[in-house]
Amino acid sequence: AAQSFRAKDLEVQVQKAAHVQLPEELPFGKVFTDHMLLADHTAEHGWGKPRIVPFGPLQLHPAAQVLHYGSCCFEGMKAYLGQDGRGRLFRPDMNFARLRRSAKRIMLADFDTEELQECVKALLRLDRAWLPDRPGHSMYIRPFMFSTDGALGVSPSKATTLSVILSPVGPYFKSGVAAVRLFLDTSNVRAWPGGVGQFKIGGNYAPTVTPQAAAKQRHDCSQVVYALPQGPDPADALISECGAMNMMFVFKRFKAAGAAAQQGSPELEVVTPPLDGTILPGVTRDSIIQLLKQRPDVLVSERPLTVRELLSAHASGLLLEVFGCGTACVVQPVSCVVTEDGTELALPPAGAAAAGGGPDASVSVAEWARQRLSDIQYGRVQHPWSVPF
Ligand code: COI
Repeated sequence: AAQSFRAKDLEVQVQKAAHVQLPEELPFGKVFTDHMLLADHTAEHGWGKPRIVPFGPLQLHPAAQVLHYGSCCFEGMKAYLGQDGRGRLFRPDMNFARLRRSAKRIMLADFDTEELQECVKALLRLDRAWLPDRPGHSMYIRPFMFSTDGALGVSPSKATTLSVILSPVGPYFKSGVAAVRLFLDTSNVRAWPGGVGQFKIGGNYAPTVTPQAAAKQRHDCSQVVYALPQGPDPADALISECGAMNMMFVFKRFKAAGAAAQQGSPELEVVTPPLDGTILPGVTRDSIIQLLKQRPDVLVSERPLTVRELLSAHASGLLLEVFGCGTACVVQPVSCVVTEDGTELALPPAGAAAAGGGPDASVSVAEWARQRLSDIQYGRVQHPWSVPF
């Protein structure tokens, strides 16, 4: 195991004026609970004791590397309140393992994921009254790590702070689970081979706000899907992801005439880009892939997808659905993909998209995935992915 802080050393300083008042509106990531977790590491002394302290501002050395070189990484995970009154985490091991990989990539301190999980459970238990019991709501958990090393040289950090804050949330997008317009950006690149796209580091996120604001202003799109150029023709570019979501594309595999000849063969293909280093290995992405593999009417493909294939599938009526998936949004259907020249690829309304013939085919793939995931997350279905705290 890694050199780590230990959950058994946890020191808790309770917020004296604690009063839980869950506001009516819970816009994503704007309301925070009474407490936060902190642990500090220095190269000289290793990890100090983990502490739960009242939620509040941090003090930093003005030369702290995080403020200059973006030496930080984070996670997004959620806790859900079930109808049985129990709180559950969803696949927390996946998030903590990824946090460790991200920290390692930028040389922040290593830690033991089990110890962090125990500390996060303690924090959740303390701030349990903040866990919303409204449909579609949850506690968004934001673990993050950053370099506090006050040294302007670009060099491995000698001081790391790890923190976890909690934010009760409703749906990620203002529109709720209603479908959003998605801009297909073939000019800006989010991540590239040999880069750091598979790590959840701050530097992958700040640069996405300009393309996002432009897509909103020019095309009224609330999300941007990036594509990685493969030469001068933008049609060759490989579809990537959104930054805050992985993407899934649902294709009808066979035209009606050919269907009879293909008896027993899946009617739908769900395509998502492979984990080639440029894609964030999403927990929701992985979960949906595993769930879809149980459907006989669906072929799940982690494979490259070009802009050309997307456009031509849409033109021949074979593109049934596009949706994003991630911890924050869970499953986010797309109503329309807008390309650089302003072409709008409208997608069939959700009900009409259900094209398979099997028992699962009465709803879209996006809706099916959302329901299956939320059954597990809210504990309506017993599943090893759900971890009570
Ligand atoms: C998440 O889905 O948790 C994310 O990390 C998206 C976030 C950048 C808001």
